[in-house]
Amino acid sequence: MCGIVGYIGNRNAQPILLQSLERLEYRGYDSCGIAVLSSTVKVYKDAGRVYQLGKALPKNNSKLGIGHSRWATHGKPSKINAHPHTDCSGRIAVVHNGVIDNFQQIKDKLTEEGHLFCSETDTEVIPHLIESYYQGDLEQAVQRALGDLRGSYALIVLAADHEELLVARNESPLVLGVGDGENFVASDVPALLDYTDRVIYMEDGDVGVITADEIRLVNCNQKVNRETNVIPWTIDDAEKGGYDHFMLKEIHEQPRVIRDTVAGYLSEIEPVIDLGLERTQFEDILLLACGTSYHACLVGRYLLEKLARIPVRVEIASEFSYSDAVLGETWVIGITQSGETADLLGALKKAKQLGCRTLAITNCFGSSATRIADQTFYIRAQPEISVAATKSFVAQLMAMYLIALSEAKMDIKSREDLTRELSVLPDKVQRILDDEEQIARHGKYLSTYDNAFYIARGINFPMALEGALKLKEISYIHAEGYPAGELKHGPFALLTPNTPVIAIVAKDDTYEAMLTNIKEIKARESPVIAVADEADEDIDKFVDEVIRVPSVDSIFSPVVNSVVLQLLPYYAARERGCSIDMPRNLAKSVTVK
Ligand code: F6R
Repeated sequence: MCGIVGYIGNRNAQPILLQSLERLEYRGYDSCGIAVLSSTVKVYKDAGRVYQLGKALPKNNSKLGIGHSRWATHGKPSKINAHPHTDCSGRIAVVHNGVIDNFQQIKDKLTEEGHLFCSETDTEVIPHLIESYYQGDLEQAVQRALGDLRGSYALIVLAADHEELLVARNESPLVLGVGDGENFVASDVPALLDYTDRVIYMEDGDVGVITADEIRLVNCNQKVNRETNVIPWTIDDAEKGGYDHFMLKEIHEQPRVIRDTVAGYLSEIEPVIDLGLERTQFEDILLLACGTSYHACLVGRYLLEKLARIPVRVEIASEFSYSDAVLGETWVIGITQSGETADLLGALKKAKQLGCRTLAITNCFGSSATRIADQTFYIRAQPEISVAATKSFVAQLMAMYLIALSEAKMDIKSREDLTRELSVLPDKVQRILDDEEQIARHGKYLSTYDNAFYIARGINFPMALEGALKLKEISYIHAEGYPAGELKHGPFALLTPNTPVIAIVAKDDTYEAMLTNIKEIKARESPVIAVADEADEDIDKFVDEVIRVPSVDSIFSPVVNSVVLQLLPYYAARERGCSIDMPRNLAKSVTVK
């Protein structure tokens, strides 16, 4: 996720910009750059890390500058695509977070007028647009340029002969840091905390002129006074947005992640999905992945078979090497959060060698999976720091819903109703997060046991696997996920009053069978916690405890259930004092076979 910083004051700007960018490194980035103003605007940028850029910079005594760390969206990670971007004359430099939806129209128009562009980015149109309106008054030129932009932006503008920074915000965060005889700008508070704890949060539509001694903000041409807040956190707290762990922060980001992933592919006007994928003929689908991503594939199989009536096979990527399966007109989809999992990359290569068309579903722009696969579908989880996958999993589920619904063979009304429901999922997930305390209590209870089972049927069976994986991974409690009907074929031997069972009970065609299985378990005196629909009035009679989730169409139940199945192990692990964000023996990106 991109980060932006700016400084104006009496100190040397360059080291401040570099240090502030380093404070934003936890967000993930692939390239970075700064622009400082001495007699002219000087831009230094490159692919790679901030410390590398810092080592390569000539000494400089400029007192104002801007900086950026880029997480590629438009165009690959490279020196040319890195920010800051400048106009033709090199006198106006801009750093930008967000997406300019109409950049291509603006670029075409400016190109006709003689502007030359060198990057693939949407951002580069901004300095050129400002240049085209500039007639001596920078603020006026920026205001006119903003009037032409559609989309989201947080931006800082620096221009030759101007002892000021221009800032603007629309749907991308921008914070001003208030100093004594100096002022700061950043996309996120951690970038400021080495220098000041006094911040002003800009609001959508705000445009500002920042000098060393003054912050002047306008909104709709009216002067506005925004409150100055004192930040009570340390830098460490701030990077985690006030949460105790990245995992908890990332769990809480899920309403936004769902919204962003869906918004990228769903029309704003009507319930129509456009994945932007080149469509080819296929007879069946093979889904490949590892770990949590494999569980997203299993949910995907239920969806594709149910909604699209397409035959689907799912394979653990590391096992696909040994498969002699004959693949005909098979569409092979590999799911990988990191895009770097060696087992998945090997499986994708094999599928290509077998002549199959391949799609990578990933969170990481330009990752190896995107280079191997014929096409890529980006989920929009933004960087995930905690080793345990949470928000990326929910985004992968959304990718599966979008693909299944776009392939759906059902009457138009049913398809549109389901498509519309995608947009209400963020609020349903938010309701679970607002009631987190009830789940925390059950998590603490689970922490006292050494073994647990997770059971479910149908589309939620993969959620039993995922719930158990999360519990093992971060709380080190041994857990197994089973199809509820399978427990009596062996694992029953392990049921005792010391073996809690988490039963995921959806209000669908699996309900009666789930109740039967729960009764069988209760007869063995194991404690049962149900994760159940809030409209289910009977479930309390059969189980010891119930965690309620908002009612959704049953095909979406894995989304709401997944949030509970992340928070339960989080609170169990916390109670046990585990290293939640970095569990022992695990790595975020598994690049070995
Ligand atoms: C579990 C987890 C892992 C990953 C697996 C695949 O929380 O994160 O099981 O899902 O290592 O990783 P990706 O999706 O990067 O291929």
